[in-house]
Amino acid sequence: MNPISQKENVSIDLSRYEEISHSFFEKLSGEKVLSFNIFDQNENIIFQAGKAITKDEIVEKSNQGIRFFIPRLSEKIGNYDYEIFSKDKLCTLAENTASTYSSIRQTGKMTYDQYVQTHRDMVELLTGLKSEDRYGGVLGLLKDISNFDYYTYVHSVNVGLLSMIYQYKTSYNADRIRTMSMAGYLHDIGKLRISKEIVDKPGSLSKQEMNAMLEHTREGYRILADIEKYSPQKKISDLIKFGALFHHRKFSIYGYPNRKERDGASREFYLKLPEEVRILGICDVYDALTTTTPWRQGNDSRTALRAILNMSNYYFSVSDVHLFLKALALSLNHGRGIIDEGSFVMIEASGKSIGKEPSSAVYEFARVIELFKGRPLNPRIEVFYDATLNKKRNRIQIDLRSDNYRKIVRVIENSRMNEMLRKVLME
Ligand SMILES: [Fe+2]
Ligand SMILES: [Fe+2]
Repeated sequence: MNPISQKENVSIDLSRYEEISHSFFEKLSGEKVLSFNIFDQNENIIFQAGKAITKDEIVEKSNQGIRFFIPRLSEKIGNYDYEIFSKDKLCTLAENTASTYSSIRQTGKMTYDQYVQTHRDMVELLTGLKSEDRYGGVLGLLKDISNFDYYTYVHSVNVGLLSMIYQYKTSYNADRIRTMSMAGYLHDIGKLRISKEIVDKPGSLSKQEMNAMLEHTREGYRILADIEKYSPQKKISDLIKFGALFHHRKFSIYGYPNRKERDGASREFYLKLPEEVRILGICDVYDALTTTTPWRQGNDSRTALRAILNMSNYYFSVSDVHLFLKALALSLNHGRGIIDEGSFVMIEASGKSIGKEPSSAVYEFARVIELFKGRPLNPRIEVFYDATLNKKRNRIQIDLRSDNYRKIVRVIENSRMNEMLRKVLME
């Protein structure tokens, strides 16, 4: 029997929580920011995600008879994330960002010294990250730096951190991690050359204002290229410049720059961009979807992650969406999956699954039967409808952990569509 459940006065649902041992809890105190909520024995949040906790607070609460619980790992849908960032380092980065960005806004230029300082800040943050759990999630606290206000600064730091952690989780190459962090951090630097009234304007922009705003991609490239122009011996990685220039290009709709060009919507062009730049575009959209601004309430992480999944083949390619979600979905969603058992999903099956050319994809509807720990995009499904031929098909169950030809490209949100699929399934 679990020793916790033998203790008296515990009204918390023990199947969902586990008590934190004293030594583990002590490690969390100090100038660290929690990326998860800590609950008391009555299931009230006692320490909130995104806040730092001190040893004094722990002792005080402990003396009041409060015990500390975190949500238990879910056997089915992955590890709960308990990773932490150093608040000091995060604050330093955000403060330095605010001062660097305001000086760039005044001069229109970024100096090489500012670039080097930024690089140093990012590396310091990254070094702190290395001592933590590589497979945990540090991302629940991203919004905590919002007390530095200024949307562009916070957004830049957030996208820098998201890009850093994406690369950190998928690559063991320190250079790549550093470069992608910088590319994320500097992607919107061009906005500093766009009039502040336009950048900060609530609501929609006029056509003229919108055209000015679209220029932030080219301006970003120019700011970065200028650093090299004035200090020719200093190199800025092409990837960082491309991040600024191409982060708004999209897979099958026109992005920008070059939105008017004939090949503007070309998938070929998009797919030739470095993977880092394409993923950076997804990090950018994720942060925009979850950010609350004075004129718009941000989405919760689960809603935003499902929205990104549903942008497969549209804003982003299926494989990039899967790379992003595989690396970050559990961390961003506090260890929980983004699809439920019983949900209806649309599957893209490469032609190979039916013995044809891989490029001739077909589409199917399926129901999610069983979710597996740590594999949010690879449940067992039951395929029951051929969406390409628009008719029912023999039902087959498929374990997406071992089927390389099928990928989830939509989770069905629309209630009429859900109802229709439910009827087909019952027939
Ligand atoms: Fe942008
Ligand atoms: Fe952005």
